[in-house]
Amino acid sequence: MTIGEGVDPRNGIDDADRRARHVEEQMTDDERFSLLVSVMGTNDVVTVLDERIPEDVPMSAGYVPGVPRLGVPAQLMSDASLGVTNPGYRPGDTATALPAGISLGASFNPDLARVSGSLVGKEARHRGFNIQLAGGVNLARDPRNGRNFEYLSEDPLLTAVLAAESINGIQGEGVISTIKHYSLNCNETNRHWLDARIDPAAHRESDLLAFEIAIERSGPGAVMTGYNKINGDYAGDNAVLIQDVLKGVWGYPGWVMSDWGGTTSWECAIHGLDQESGLQIDMMLWQNEWFVGPLREAYEAGRLSRDRLSEMVRRILRSMFAVGVDRWGPAPEVDMGSHHGIALEAARQGIVLLANTGILPLRPESTPHVAVIGGHAQLGVVTGCGSSAVVPPGGYAEVIKVGGPGAMGVARNLYLLPSSPLTELRRLLPGAEIEFDAGMSPAESAAMAARSDVAIVFGVTVESEGFDDHDLSLPWGQDAVIEAVAAANPRTVVVLETGNPVSMPWRDAVGAIVQAWYPGQAGGQAIAEVLTGIVNPSGRLPVSFPADLSQTPRPRLPGQGTPWGTPTTIEYTEGAEVGYRWLARTAQRPLFAFGHGLSYTTFAHTDLEVSAGDTITARVTVTNTGDRPGVDIPQLYLTEAAGDRRMRLLAFDRVVLEAGETRRVTLEAEPRLLARYDGADGTTGTWRIDEGTYEVSVAENAGEPGLTASVELKARAFGR
Ligand code: BGC
Repeated sequence: MTIGEGVDPRNGIDDADRRARHVEEQMTDDERFSLLVSVMGTNDVVTVLDERIPEDVPMSAGYVPGVPRLGVPAQLMSDASLGVTNPGYRPGDTATALPAGISLGASFNPDLARVSGSLVGKEARHRGFNIQLAGGVNLARDPRNGRNFEYLSEDPLLTAVLAAESINGIQGEGVISTIKHYSLNCNETNRHWLDARIDPAAHRESDLLAFEIAIERSGPGAVMTGYNKINGDYAGDNAVLIQDVLKGVWGYPGWVMSDWGGTTSWECAIHGLDQESGLQIDMMLWQNEWFVGPLREAYEAGRLSRDRLSEMVRRILRSMFAVGVDRWGPAPEVDMGSHHGIALEAARQGIVLLANTGILPLRPESTPHVAVIGGHAQLGVVTGCGSSAVVPPGGYAEVIKVGGPGAMGVARNLYLLPSSPLTELRRLLPGAEIEFDAGMSPAESAAMAARSDVAIVFGVTVESEGFDDHDLSLPWGQDAVIEAVAAANPRTVVVLETGNPVSMPWRDAVGAIVQAWYPGQAGGQAIAEVLTGIVNPSGRLPVSFPADLSQTPRPRLPGQGTPWGTPTTIEYTEGAEVGYRWLARTAQRPLFAFGHGLSYTTFAHTDLEVSAGDTITARVTVTNTGDRPGVDIPQLYLTEAAGDRRMRLLAFDRVVLEAGETRRVTLEAEPRLLARYDGADGTTGTWRIDEGTYEVSVAENAGEPGLTASVELKARAFGR
């Protein structure tokens, strides 16, 4: 495996390894230890600037001094799930605010992931950040998880393919990317005291498979561990996951850093952790800076070996050299105008048209009078909050303090990015009279809807790390407003700016539902373009939308409602059967299936041919049968494997077709998705394909039968 391959061919794996060894050998122990901890700049939670951070250093989420005499630059980290963040919130330090990760997931578009990653890499480099805390790949196991908006999907393959391209985009600019949060950091409730329990083999077939494939395809310089425990051991202290799986079975050569506040003892170093992150948060949570005093003492006392210390340092240096953060020239110019264009295109491709009775696209001639209701649509679009929040050029349109319990309560805000759907609709429908109602009271909103030709109601949520949603309803009584509006005018369009599914009690009463996620700094324009038909929606759901929580593996979320800090255990008993896999296993029909998304044109799939060898390859003809250009996303699913009914997304493609155009598409299955991980401990086994009949389908989404075929596979075992 190589890290940062393609950045600079003269610095391949051997050279980076050799240089890392050579430089490390020349270091003093003080220099070695200085590389093992990062200190956080100021922010809502850390309010005093740590004296270890020099004054001329840009504010960062993590700062590690360099060793100039040996050509080792300082490490400057910022978050990057949705663009380059602004740790410390300096007003002038702005960056392109991209749509949420889950919106990128909805694009099913690896090229878009790469372009967005490259944007992040360029802007990071321009601001002096050489490490991006990007690559969030935790699977959306629970529709209440407050961080699903930062992640990509509920499916390991889709997540891995997109994360890999995003990491490749970042590292292609000479900036290190992490992949995070390793692993099973799938709920936020009591996250520092949470034991996430799972069958180890099922873990390999789900969350770990997403990490495995993404790491293989992109070689991220660092892996960030999660906050939670996995099967009893904290993620940062988890020898099974870090040493046995990541560094052992997968041969990962980069370094492993903790999350901020995720180093729970100096012994994490013995169990594979190479760097303690955000010291101040460890001080707050565990009253210690583990890799400063205690680790040094352990070293002096012979409890940390010199070899292990050297290895920790070499892993860090190796990634720095392989990606090239030591070879930066002058900061590149960044074209913020073209980056705005990328944010716009990303928002367009992420929007999912969930339902449409024919009311969309809006036709100017039949909509002279439009009511726009709620969601602060007169100001902008919502973005998620927490460490991933990006300050866009010009700053936020508004920040509404929300608050909440626990350490993250002070940072819980409703951030509005300045792309107002109301303004954009007025621009695109110049002949229409467009009124705005704040959506405060059902009666008031209904009155405006009743006197309009069409009502567009916005439903928004505030989602954040540190919090899980308590149910699937919209907050602040928005469901009641939508119900009243729909009762007053059936020509109602609901636009959802949420990072998670919502239950939509009003779904049968409205004319159309548009899932816009948190659509980023150009989101208002993208929403208006989709509503008016300038853009044909092409997003597909990267998560299942359950009808209600009873359809999910955990109708009740353990720990929910307890005070922050309560020890909590979540048994992920669904194992590898996450999302649509669970729904298929339990024969349940969700509200909207994984992969679902409508278009203003129609598509047909014909002539499915399937062949089998080491894997399964499907060929299918995709035709745009409608009268306008559009994008189809054919999905290849496994539905039964040698007598075992199990559903797996095996491959997908994103096919752009003119009206009437036809294309033959090839979909090849990732073999590990045809296999089971055979090894109860999750480390010493192998991938095993059983001999027998394999049934597959090519479908528009996971809830449809699609075109089906079956093939015979021979038994084989491969990999570890
Ligand atoms: C988050 C990480 C983030 C880190 C640094 C933590 O709260 O969990 O995802 O990278 O902060 O900002």
